[in-house]
Amino acid sequence: MLESKNLHVEIEGIKILKGVNLKVETGKVHALMGPNGSGKSTLANVIMGHPKYEITQGQIILNGEVINDLSPDERAKRGLFLSFQYPNEVDGVTISTFLRTAINSLREGKGEEPISVLDFHNLLKEKLDLLKTDESFAQRYLNHGFSGGEKKKSEILQLVVLDPKVAILDETDSGLDISAIRDVADGINKFMGKDKIILIITHYKRILEYIKHDKLSILINGKIALEGGPELVDELEAKGYGWIQEDASEIKSEMR
Ligand SMILES: Nc1ncnc2c1ncn2[C@@H]1O[C@H](COP(=O)(O)OP(=O)(O)OP(=O)(O)O)[C@@H](O)[C@H]1O
Ligand SMILES: [Mg+2]
Repeated sequence: MLESKNLHVEIEGIKILKGVNLKVETGKVHALMGPNGSGKSTLANVIMGHPKYEITQGQIILNGEVINDLSPDERAKRGLFLSFQYPNEVDGVTISTFLRTAINSLREGKGEEPISVLDFHNLLKEKLDLLKTDESFAQRYLNHGFSGGEKKKSEILQLVVLDPKVAILDETDSGLDISAIRDVADGINKFMGKDKIILIITHYKRILEYIKHDKLSILINGKIALEGGPELVDELEAKGYGWIQEDASEIKSEMR
């Protein structure tokens, strides 16, 4: 299980997360929605160990272990993976080389030998086929000159090749065309399993029509404002976020 407990996070002295409590269970797909700027990417980045964000209070716990002080590399070795909302361009490194290096780094962490050239080739081919992507894609420099949708495909290729235990997907559906969204959702569904965890951040219901989610949490202004089952997404599509804040302020005024 992945858990954030009373998580407070600042960036350059500005409070962004203000006590996030979130439990994402193994074998479940957990969706996270919320208005722009509410802190969703901050939460994703801080779970992954981005050094820019400072945890001022609270804990991130992975399978019972507090991981606040682990480096991103150590978190990756424990099975965490983040697909970025805005992936970086890495010039001069092909997707293929990047993936082989990443696999070998994970294998080294487990005391295993590097993957053979043939095994890597076969694995890459299988996953490219899964995402209905041409082999030439893997020979391009990582995200260099990629369209928005190609960057997202490259992130999902990394997910299916590296096969982590915990996948945090930050707006993986944004910018994908209607066929690509299906291919990406297929990839994510094939990745999912009883021993996996997915936290999927999105603004829209559409991806959740392809990827069945078990629970939905809504982050507003750095706090989880509401949680519910899959049906909650329909209510959000119909009503937006305003009513949740109103509900919260009503509760507060009742408490006064
Ligand atoms: N590096 C940074 N420097 C300054 N402010 C930042 C930084 N990163 C995030 N913030 C601020 O933190 C708040 C939360 O940002 P975050 O990216 O987590 O939101 P989000 O919920 O992912 O939004 P979106 O739906 O637009 O992706 C925003 O007000 C943003 O401006
Ligand atoms: Mg974001």
